Amino acid sequence: MDYFQWSDALSVGNTLIDQDHKELVTLVNELHQAVQDGKSSETLGSILQALFTYTHEHFQREELLMEHIKYADMDAHLDQHKKLIEQVEVLQDAFERGRAEVAIGTAELLRYWLTHHIMRTDKKLSAAIAQAGLAEL
Ligand SMILES: [Fe+2]
Repeated sequence: MDYFQWSDALSVGNTLIDQDHKELVTLVNELHQAVQDGKSSETLGSILQALFTYTHEHFQREELLMEHIKYADMDAHLDQHKKLIEQVEVLQDAFERGRAEVAIGTAELLRYWLTHHIMRTDKKLSAAIAQAGLAEL
């Protein structure tokens, strides 16, 4: 069973956002598996980098959607994204200074954060996108 199990409960009902979230879940699982398999710091580092890059890109995509629909709760949503990025940057920094165990901390943070953020904040955004008639974007 995957470390971070995707389920329909995590679907926000928007294909674009769901696809991004599934990719993030896949990358968290890859990171966790690499730690379990005792992969090198180099391998862990490249998965972490892919995870950070994709997280940034995903947040940008959501932010564009929010701007497009003039989302009323945009500031609060962006604040959550900003805080996660700050936490991730601290972990990235620690990893670069040679703390390989940080990788598992990152997987745990993202599994927890994504589950809660998707279930509450992104579902609300997705409902607003659908209401604005952009469900097919
Ligand atoms: Fe979000």
